[in-house]
Amino acid sequence: MLHFELNNGIKIPALGFGTYKASREAVELAVEAGYRYFDTAEFYGNEAMLGEVLNGSGRPRDEFMIASKLWKANLGYESTLTAFNRTLENLGTDYLDVYLIHWPRPDLVRQDWKELDRETWRAMEELYHQGKIRALGLSNFLPHHAENIVACCEVKPSVAQLEFHPGYTQTFALNYYRAKNIQVQAWSPTARGRILDDVLIRELAAKYRVSAVQLCLRFCVQEGVMPLPKASSLERLRENLECLNFELSAEDMMRMENMPPIGWGGEHPDRERVKIV
Ligand SMILES: NC(=O)c1ccc[n+]([C@@H]2O[C@H](COP(=O)([O-])OP(=O)(O)OC[C@H]3O[C@@H](n4cnc5c(N)ncnc54)[C@H](OP(=O)(O)O)[C@@H]3O)[C@@H](O)[C@H]2O)c1
Repeated sequence: MLHFELNNGIKIPALGFGTYKASREAVELAVEAGYRYFDTAEFYGNEAMLGEVLNGSGRPRDEFMIASKLWKANLGYESTLTAFNRTLENLGTDYLDVYLIHWPRPDLVRQDWKELDRETWRAMEELYHQGKIRALGLSNFLPHHAENIVACCEVKPSVAQLEFHPGYTQTFALNYYRAKNIQVQAWSPTARGRILDDVLIRELAAKYRVSAVQLCLRFCVQEGVMPLPKASSLERLRENLECLNFELSAEDMMRMENMPPIGWGGEHPDRERVKIV
């Protein structure tokens, strides 16, 4: 499979499987379809299930890459170490390939999030040096959150996860991470379907004779962003992998980069959640 290389030399597949709300059967089918990178989080409540499927697959641990995330209620040095050990136990493994801070602040009230994030990072750096995490990452960090860590860290973040899809590319954050050589990953790379009926998406999907989902995933890959789609049937899982086998023209990429905003999920690290109906 096509790979991206992280800033610490680790290679990751160009596309991974997102496990939020994924059933056990979907994860089993993802392994069967050839997915080798699995994105979870303690918050998803499915680390144990994911571990059972991967450990029970009969394949060696190092054939898979597992990423999990520290929930925002657990920011801080000691609580990070405790939550990390719980995550390892849930997954039935002794290391993680990627560990990310899920959100940069516990809530909108507490003002000490910068100190909390730096303390969290210090704990993650220790785990990295102990060989328990192969790459460190941030999730839902905008440049002003990331810079708080990047400016003073010993181990640089290797991965940054953002909501990213045609119509919501967070260009300012994307360019920041590109300049720092930090690999961006796309969560909700199809906006959970909210953008699939858009006129431009439909036009370009027809032009390339691909599905609208494949078009969105290909857009991510060609932006140098790793998509993490979740899907439940073998047919869809395979269809999504096929995005690695065609190419969009520079002009069509530009059309999607510059389409009007569409499909935002309603979450922002510094704002109250907006309910999108
Ligand atoms: N860091 C964060 O804060 C954060 C937040 C949200 C998500 N994530 C990660 O990103 C992953 C993906 O995000 P997401 O699940 O929100 O959105 P998504 O992957 O954009 O959309 C998932 C939806 O698309 C459908 N789908 C998948 N392939 C399809 C296809 N070929 N044709 C038609 N429909 C298809 C799925 O349906 P079926 O399942 O029914 O097939 C599911 O309803 C999550 O699982 C999670 O790992 C991270």
